[in-house]
Amino acid sequence: MKQVIVILIFLNGFSVQTKAQVAVDAKMKVFIDALMKKMTVDEKIGQLNLPGSGDIVTGQAANSDIGKKIKEGKVGGLFNIKSVEKIKAVQKVAVEESRLKIPLIFGMDVIHGYQTVFPIPLGLSCSWDMQLIERSARIAAVEASADGINWTFSPMVDIARDPRWGRIAEGSGEDAYLGSQIARAMVKGYQGNNLSLNNTIMSCVKHYALYGAAEAGRDYNTTDMSRYRMYNEYFPPYQAAVDAGAGSVMASFNDVDGIPATANKWLMTTVLRNQWGFNGFVVTDYTGINEMIDHGIGDLKTVSAKALQAGINMDMVGEGFLLTLKQSLKEGKITMQMIDAACRRILEAKYKLGLFDDPYRYCDEQRSKTEVFTAAHRKIARETAAQSFVLLKNSPMRTGNGAPVLPLKRSGTIALIGPMADNKENMPGTWSVAAEFDKAISVLTGLKEVAGNNVNILHARGSNLDADSLFEERAGMFGKSLRRDSRPADVILKEALAIANQSDVIVAVLGESAEMTGESSSRSSIEIPQVQKELLQALLNTGKPVILVLFTGRPLALKWENEQVPAILNVWFGGSEAGYAIADVLFGDVNPSGKLSTSFPQNIGQVPLFYNHKNTGRPLADGQWFQKFRSNYLDVSNEPVYPFGFGLSYTSFSYSNIKLSNTALKGNQTLTTSVTVTNTGNVTGKEVVQLYIRDVVGSVTRPVKELKGFQKIELKPGESKTVSFRITVNDLKFYNYDLKYDWEPGEFQIMIGTNSRDVKMEKVNWQK
Ligand code: BGC
Repeated sequence: MKQVIVILIFLNGFSVQTKAQVAVDAKMKVFIDALMKKMTVDEKIGQLNLPGSGDIVTGQAANSDIGKKIKEGKVGGLFNIKSVEKIKAVQKVAVEESRLKIPLIFGMDVIHGYQTVFPIPLGLSCSWDMQLIERSARIAAVEASADGINWTFSPMVDIARDPRWGRIAEGSGEDAYLGSQIARAMVKGYQGNNLSLNNTIMSCVKHYALYGAAEAGRDYNTTDMSRYRMYNEYFPPYQAAVDAGAGSVMASFNDVDGIPATANKWLMTTVLRNQWGFNGFVVTDYTGINEMIDHGIGDLKTVSAKALQAGINMDMVGEGFLLTLKQSLKEGKITMQMIDAACRRILEAKYKLGLFDDPYRYCDEQRSKTEVFTAAHRKIARETAAQSFVLLKNSPMRTGNGAPVLPLKRSGTIALIGPMADNKENMPGTWSVAAEFDKAISVLTGLKEVAGNNVNILHARGSNLDADSLFEERAGMFGKSLRRDSRPADVILKEALAIANQSDVIVAVLGESAEMTGESSSRSSIEIPQVQKELLQALLNTGKPVILVLFTGRPLALKWENEQVPAILNVWFGGSEAGYAIADVLFGDVNPSGKLSTSFPQNIGQVPLFYNHKNTGRPLADGQWFQKFRSNYLDVSNEPVYPFGFGLSYTSFSYSNIKLSNTALKGNQTLTTSVTVTNTGNVTGKEVVQLYIRDVVGSVTRPVKELKGFQKIELKPGESKTVSFRITVNDLKFYNYDLKYDWEPGEFQIMIGTNSRDVKMEKVNWQK
């Protein structure tokens, strides 16, 4: 007998459901229909409530009486509670003491690992390694779910081109293509193929939308941009996460087109549900509804109603829904259907997680003892951290034999100097809610353990993080203190210079503290704090070779450092094993291969600076940095210090010219393009081969280049590999002025190279 497979294609989206899925959904519908029939209006509204709780508090609202509310059916879930015991106890109240025994969903900001902490997302993105990224999310899910969590507020996929914005640390940088790949990998890692397994958790893609485009890089600030830009440059990673099956979406704080995202029906319903076919639930950000009072669009009752009407399903912390929706219903401002629709989404999420079958599914004390912060996970975190580091510079020692400064030899005396050198708390970086700071590995510990017995390591602080103690306090919140040294600055410096002078090489561990990026950590200067720069200058003055190990959660302006310091290794915030990973790379046990996912500008005045900009009508001529009446600055060239895609290795690679299968194509043909990459150095290394395309003439102006593919390969010394990319018209598509997604015939430049600046180029003509 012939088997018939039923495939439903939703007209407004891309969701394709198999017969098995249809059956599961039908079962879920029957279950939820029956449950909702029993629910009162209050209980339905209760499901939409996500009050604040737990060990970390952000935002404005405070809460109490949680237990009482749970019993009354006024709570849908809780978040940022750490430990299986606590979660089990709260779940017990819900399923034993509330009338309908509906289990709670438990969320957490599991952003880059749980207790085993991986590099901050901006760092992780520099690995350009999707398997590695997916695996980090997988491990985070295993650990979080072993500790009671079944929902994570990740991935954060906001495209960010402004390094002043502290939350640039939480995302994957400036590029929509790379960002989309990472969004998919993260969702897959968290959710796996079956959300109801006890070691997968539901992801929540955030912050929808455009949060990364906050004006002036000031957190929570307004965004305003053309729809053309939204669809082409900012939306793709959110959509990619939705396509990958993300179970939930978080609304952003900012307004979009004059309407806060939380009340923006066009965003929440037209785009998200109707155009992208999203069928999960939407939660606000922390007090996102209440903040619309300050945005100036109404009182609590009005803004709560607006949020529900727009398509918000769950209210994080502010309790606007809980306090006002019933009244709005009575007044006819909202409908019962709207409440029902939101409630259904929440219940569906709980159903998909398997919580109705077993509310304690994620509360296995045994697992919490054996699957969290394991040696195996930590080993992977160490390897992952090393893959996120970006070698920005490695030139020969000034007084040496012509060999580059790195890797370090395992002999002689190393002076390890800097405010970040002997600190554990800052290693995990921002948003490491579940981290146990005292278990993190400092650079000093890592270096000592990895160096072996022939290396003498001396250590001194050299300076505080910043001359201003109040600034340092603000940059050390959430327990990530640098324990400021109260001695006078010259005394601290003198001590460091004394050990520097006794050493063969100086490793300066400088930059930002963990909380100098992340939420509410915008900066108007993107330089290394002045007191640390002075320390660096003093270390350079000793004449010894200096290696800058740079901690940062954002692109910094490193023009001076790039000119003066022989070697710079950007280590971001590498997670709980950072110290080991840094030592692995410094000693050459691991060859660095990270590539930047954001451009590093020369100074703050160039911001926003990104590789996929438009050409303008007055571009500079090739090789020029200033021409009168062209698009440029009087005082600085248009170039970044380090371009998008940039990163060095302890070996070197050469690229052949590009080969094309065809230079005149038609319609649905495939273009195969390839280069041969050779390792021309002395050690094995990894290289990210990057493909960029420029659509030379369009109905709208097009970027000078756009990333369209990449492959990470490993080559032994002398080894060559041919890397091919298959390009179809799908790779040429973009949203035109009418927001129609299509490609336009004409000339295309095909570029392949080691970063976005250093590429080889060929041209093709592609007709319809
Ligand atoms: C942040 C979110 C986070 C939430 C819950 C907010 O302040 O913007 O990214 O998920 O808090 O902790």
